[in-house]
Amino acid sequence: MNAESDHSLRISEIGQANHQIPRGGSPPRILIVDDSPTIRYTLKKDLQQMGAIVTEATNGSDGLSIAESRDFDLIITDVEMPQMDGFAFCAKLKSHPVKNSIPVVILSSREKEEDIEFAFKVGASNYITKSNARNDIRARVKEILDKRSLLNGRTVLVVDDSPSIRNLIEKALTKAGFQVILAENGRKALDLLYQYSPDMILSDLHMPVLDGLGLCKIIHNNKDFSQIPFIIMSSDGDRAKMRQLLEYGASAYLVKPFNIDQLVVTAERFLSDHFSRLLSERKRLESEQQMLIASISSLVLALEARDQYTRGHSESVAALVVDMAREMSMDEGGIERAKIAGKLHDLGKIGIRDDILLKPGPLNGEEWEILKLHPLIGADILGPIQSLSDIIPAIRSHHERIDGKGYPEGLKGEQIHLLARMVAVADTYDALTSNRPYRKGFSNEDALAIIKEGEGTQLCPECVQSFMRVFEKQRRD
Ligand SMILES: [Fe+2]
Repeated sequence: MNAESDHSLRISEIGQANHQIPRGGSPPRILIVDDSPTIRYTLKKDLQQMGAIVTEATNGSDGLSIAESRDFDLIITDVEMPQMDGFAFCAKLKSHPVKNSIPVVILSSREKEEDIEFAFKVGASNYITKSNARNDIRARVKEILDKRSLLNGRTVLVVDDSPSIRNLIEKALTKAGFQVILAENGRKALDLLYQYSPDMILSDLHMPVLDGLGLCKIIHNNKDFSQIPFIIMSSDGDRAKMRQLLEYGASAYLVKPFNIDQLVVTAERFLSDHFSRLLSERKRLESEQQMLIASISSLVLALEARDQYTRGHSESVAALVVDMAREMSMDEGGIERAKIAGKLHDLGKIGIRDDILLKPGPLNGEEWEILKLHPLIGADILGPIQSLSDIIPAIRSHHERIDGKGYPEGLKGEQIHLLARMVAVADTYDALTSNRPYRKGFSNEDALAIIKEGEGTQLCPECVQSFMRVFEKQRRD
């Protein structure tokens, strides 16, 4: 491979639209091209506040020479300017062999449709009217910053048998904010794969021991690694082979010799697209989970609404458990799980006969044994839902006792999941303070005293203490 000697761009990729992603590790560099000192000043101030390094040009012609001589992550240009206007500037930049990938935002007071159409025709990525400039530009820069933070510190595994090429790529990727791991052949790369779990692989085609084709095949047949973007680098004569590699799951190929800057841009683009896809998939799953929880919570609400004595019980328990989770300094994920556990802890009562569930008086022995099945029924209902697997122990064990005398399994102490121990305290409090057909609810003070008595036998001491601190804090506030 001989990338050092040739700076002309010869890059072939299968993939996305040509769109440069800013590099991680350093502040975003933005060029403002505008003949109005006031607009340059206002924009510059705004962008600097967001952490950008700003360079100014007063017309398209100056803008072009500055853009050619330095690297930018984004260019914002006016339309009407002396010497060279914004449209001509954008068109020239987009025909530049290397600089064409810098996104250009056109900022104009013109709001006619034909101007907007023309801006996109000359290659602009956004058209912002000056009346909306402030918010729209902030949003665009924020988008760039978000992508940067997504990429910063990501690990790239570079596989090439040439030490000088490895060195060259390592330097360029490190400068762009990536962590780089080097391997001299495919076999070595496989060893490192297990050790470092890289976010992307950049591999040569011809190498001793195990070549790029062999490496690509092995990686894409392994479910732990098949999702890692794999970019292959080789010379023009290997095009047919490289196309074959795409069939084995490679994301793209780079034809040597190529410009090292373009290699970095390609790495950034593929990683950015990869993580954007992962993020949107995660958001989709999260929103599906929210909908699922909302549906199951509605079932619990409907179940409880049939009985004036249990109406709103699970919502109250959820609110108390969330307060405890905050008091215990749990992270956002832990607080969310606590809330769901509180809401769904009695879900299994759906499977209990109405003559037992709605019985106005105390239950007899046999009825009591049936009611005691509800934690297991709830755990069974949620069992197939993979995304709720963290919550199930809280549902199954919320009637266990710390001394091992609870049900359904007679677990003791820390054998009982923390969320279940927390729900147990909140559940006991809400049950004590609620009216029953056969007794009036206890006062807050009496209920707290009964909970305190249960500390270390029925209830978990840490959870009881946290619960007490929640009440003390509420009293003080
Ligand atoms: Fe329960």
